Amino acid sequence: MLSENIERNEVGELCFAGQSIRRLAEQYGTPLYLMDADRIRANCRMYRNAFRESFGEKALPLYASKAASFRQIYRIMAEEGMGVDTVSPGEIHTALRAGFPAEKIWFHGDGKTDEDIRYAVRAGIGCFVVDNETELACLQAEAKAQGIRQKVLLRITPGIDPHTYEAVNTGMVDVKFGVPIAEEQALHFVEKALSMDALEVAGLHCHVGSMVFDEMVFEDTVDHMVSFMKELRDTLGYETKELNLGGGYGVRYLETDKTIDIPARIRALAEHIRQRTEEAGLPMPFLLMEPGRSIVADAGMTVYTVSTVKHQPGFKNYVIVDGGMTDNPRYCLYKASYTVLHESGHEGKKETFDLVGRCCESGDILQPGIKLPADIKRGDLIAVCITGAYNYSMASNYNRLGRPPVVMLEQGESSVAVRRETLDDLCAMDL
Ligand code: LLP
Repeated sequence: MLSENIERNEVGELCFAGQSIRRLAEQYGTPLYLMDADRIRANCRMYRNAFRESFGEKALPLYASKAASFRQIYRIMAEEGMGVDTVSPGEIHTALRAGFPAEKIWFHGDGKTDEDIRYAVRAGIGCFVVDNETELACLQAEAKAQGIRQKVLLRITPGIDPHTYEAVNTGMVDVKFGVPIAEEQALHFVEKALSMDALEVAGLHCHVGSMVFDEMVFEDTVDHMVSFMKELRDTLGYETKELNLGGGYGVRYLETDKTIDIPARIRALAEHIRQRTEEAGLPMPFLLMEPGRSIVADAGMTVYTVSTVKHQPGFKNYVIVDGGMTDNPRYCLYKASYTVLHESGHEGKKETFDLVGRCCESGDILQPGIKLPADIKRGDLIAVCITGAYNYSMASNYNRLGRPPVVMLEQGESSVAVRRETLDDLCAMDL
């Protein structure tokens, strides 16, 4: 199977985290997001242990909570000793409402408003990742007004191609995030930040992209960042104490996708940073990374009920389910691949279908050209695997469809982490 938590039991039922999909669908209805909390914890521990082994106490993994943000997730992160990366007051508020410690929250974003900045300073979050000079000035003013000194990291664009798809490529020079090292722009950015008395410049941040498989991408990034750190030390006398290398490790959506040995990658990366900083005569910085997808993706599965099957001789066949682009827009946005399983798993004749949703547009495709039982029918259950990252967090209410619940599976038990949206929820904001 694609992931250890997906299997069939002795009677052939599809199970996720050891629990029968059919039973969960009966109990909670469909469409249904399932989240394997044990898997999330195991992924956090993998990062924590790898960081401890490779960097000792001088490192912390942050969970990039844009991948999946709701209260339970932040509780798990607190219990697992992770920091969190947030990108909006909404994510910060959710974390705080979950009892997540403010000082372990990092706040990102290229378009923070005055209200966002005021809110986050007031909330006492640990660190701003400042994207640009405009934000720097606003933050300086706000921190001063509130009488605090705000810790910041400065987002730098190293000029790296992460070899991933365009929408998530953020490391090249010509992107909307951060300040490029090119043309001394980043040098001036740091100089400006250092002149601001209400800001404590702890170090630098960069993030080159998501779904990164290429081994050398992080190493190349380190080369660019360390040489910039050296330039800062030589020209401004500034020593970078913290270095945040962002998120981005890719995950397997298909059996044929590559597996990344993340602990091994982190060990190699640590060695590389040690070498490069030594060569540059710089101290080893405190290391941060911000994995999102690799923490939650394989902890998720979405279960649907088939509404309609259309066999169209000479044309495409369709399986239409009770969810769609509203709960998973990733095929529509990125042509993302997914593994789709039929609950019965029967070995009979298969046919090729497009798995599509119930929204009123033909672009509402979950996955095209997949093999499913030829006799698939209304009422059958379909599971889409590896949906823990960027599914619930990117869900919408298009067509006034309520978002599915998120049900947590832990130690053989299940519980609702986010309840299903009701028809009344859908007009709760309307005046
Ligand atoms: N740090 C920063 C600054 C980021 O922008 C991101 C992701 C991460 C960390 C986490 O990256 P990860 O480890 O999850 O790859 N909606 C897209 C993904 C967008 C990623 C945006 N930034 C998708 O569904 O594929």
